[in-house]
Amino acid sequence: MDIKKYGPWALVVGGSEGVGAAFAQLLAEDGFKLVLIARKQEPLDQLAAELRANGAEVRTASVDLSRHDALAKTRAQTYDIDIGLLIYNAGANSIRGRFTDLPKDVTQAVIAVNVIGQADFARHYGALMVKRGRGGIILTGSLGGYLGSPTLAAYTASKSFSRIFTEALWAECAPLGVDVLHLNIGFTATPAMARLGMPVNMAESPEKVAREGLENIVNGPVWIVSTPGNIERARLISRVDDRAATVRAHAIAPREDTAQAAALMQKFAAR
Ligand SMILES: NC(=O)c1ccc[n+]([C@@H]2O[C@H](COP(=O)([O-])OP(=O)(O)OC[C@H]3O[C@@H](n4cnc5c(N)ncnc54)[C@H](OP(=O)(O)O)[C@@H]3O)[C@@H](O)[C@H]2O)c1
Repeated sequence: MDIKKYGPWALVVGGSEGVGAAFAQLLAEDGFKLVLIARKQEPLDQLAAELRANGAEVRTASVDLSRHDALAKTRAQTYDIDIGLLIYNAGANSIRGRFTDLPKDVTQAVIAVNVIGQADFARHYGALMVKRGRGGIILTGSLGGYLGSPTLAAYTASKSFSRIFTEALWAECAPLGVDVLHLNIGFTATPAMARLGMPVNMAESPEKVAREGLENIVNGPVWIVSTPGNIERARLISRVDDRAATVRAHAIAPREDTAQAAALMQKFAAR
């Protein structure tokens, strides 16, 4: 990663574990200084200690992105440094259910993290990058953002926002020297997925996802991680000729069916 273009500091939002931690590790190896944001302080401290032991400069802050003060709390950690790379990684969905049944707090939190948060952080740090005429922004998406899935209405819609938002931001920022990428992720073996009881032995590694994101920051606006089956699935669920059939046939499977779905996708991709 070119530190002259994207450094000296990188801000990883959702940077304590999984894909976010993998981003932090790769960037530290390339000499970046890091600001890591997540809710739980202990995993942040643990990762920061590892990175510092290898010579990296690291700041951390416990911030809940679903709260209105998230950007202000993060800015307090970054007002005196140049953030050349923003990676907005947090955003997985932990609670499923019919939209009309779920408590409003649950669905509003998804929208706050994935829509309001992505927009607010991209506006603030993007404006500073545009002023400097250089920098990069990676917003994490999901294959779920191509199709509205029952029991995941707010999540799938929020990832769709992220992709469309990034496409526009990419076109606006490219002539101003700032690269913008929507990193579209398929099933990945993160601690968040493991805690949900997902079969992460079938899933992509966070290191590969983060590496592909960094290596393809100039290949925006959308990069679909090259896990076998991901691009084929994106094509299938993007069909426009019969959305009713597509939505019914390709909704994200219940968790207990995920292993079967992942195996089928791999088989399909191998043909
Ligand atoms: N894993 C997959 O299979 C998969 C598939 C498609 C897309 N994605 C996307 O990839 C990204 C990473 O997913 P993930 O599986 O690693 O889980 P995740 O929970 O989105 O990300 C984990 C990181 O984000 C932090 N985080 C989560 N919610 C937060 C909040 N409200 N405020 C501040 N920090 C928060 C976590 O630390 P704390 O818990 O301490 O806050 C941790 O550092 C997400 O955007 C997700 O939608 C993942």
